[in-house]
Amino acid sequence: MEKVQIMDVTLRDGLQNESFLLEEEEKLYLANGLAEAGFRRIEAGAFVNPKAVPQMAGTADLFKNHLGQSASKSDFYALIPNEKGYELAKAAGVSNMAFVMAVTEEMNQKNVRMSVEDSFEQFLKIFQRSKEDQLNMRLYLAVVFHCPFEGVTDEKKAIEWINEFQHLGVADLCLADTDGMAKPEQVQRVLEATIPVYTQLETTLSLHLHNTYGYAAENLRVALKAGLRHFDSAVAGLGGCPFAPGAKGNIASEDLVAICEAEGFDTGIDSKKLGELSQWLGNIKLERTKGQKA
Ligand code: COA
Ligand code: ZN
Repeated sequence: MEKVQIMDVTLRDGLQNESFLLEEEEKLYLANGLAEAGFRRIEAGAFVNPKAVPQMAGTADLFKNHLGQSASKSDFYALIPNEKGYELAKAAGVSNMAFVMAVTEEMNQKNVRMSVEDSFEQFLKIFQRSKEDQLNMRLYLAVVFHCPFEGVTDEKKAIEWINEFQHLGVADLCLADTDGMAKPEQVQRVLEATIPVYTQLETTLSLHLHNTYGYAAENLRVALKAGLRHFDSAVAGLGGCPFAPGAKGNIASEDLVAICEAEGFDTGIDSKKLGELSQWLGNIKLERTKGQKA
């Protein structure tokens, strides 16, 4: 059976848009539970300004005290938006990082308060340093298909960015539909223009879907058909970007696993364990958001 690999982003993208917080021990429980469920790549936090995203405060301690020296079979990732994030993550013992930049000016300004060009320059420096430091570096390209501020993303421009990173040797690139507005035919065109190079280079190209208008499942099917085998998801479809108005949750890990398996792929995920985690998290959410406005 052909394999599909899923990176779970519940502890970062999932939590960052939720109004409840998890304690360090709870984050650790979830991280270890996800590893036990079979996720081999788990994004467990972000090194961002805690005033901007309070849900990610404590990421340094989570890695310093636990995940940085974990003997788990799974790799734990942390998102970084700039050089300061790189420094902080490295000091906390993070060995798998994910840098984020958007392909549209307004989204990048709103998210990381830099121009796209400045983010690109920071990435080049960080990427070089990550090689010297022997750390894994993933790159998220945000708003590849649609931007909440600028509308439909210029497809040619998006493909040019993807190709640029291929030429720079970025072996782990993730295309994010940040606000969940990608249309299946758009996903198909972008992937058909980019997958062959990644397949040839045996590097990783992933798709990060959100489910704003219910397109995520269709986008996933189109991507599988186009040959993509790496996806991101969050337990119970939690999440979204606090800086992308209208963005709804990530594609639910449960749905992703079910659809991939129905299409004949092996995800290596234990659905029973995943269901338990989903219920555990759902109960915490319910308890902590009681009385809050939706
Ligand atoms: N981690 C933690 N703190 C950081 C930081 C990082 N990577 N980068 C900057 N800071 C802190 C600075 O130390 C400073 O703190 P202070 O106010 O206590 O002195 C403050 O943030 C402002 O620093 P500055 O360099 O002017 O950054 P900024 O205001 O331009 O903000 C970001 C840049 C990226 C840190 C901020 O916009 C941010 O955290 N955005 C969140 C991005 C995010 O998580 N998006 C969702 C995921 S894609
Ligand atoms: Zn996302």
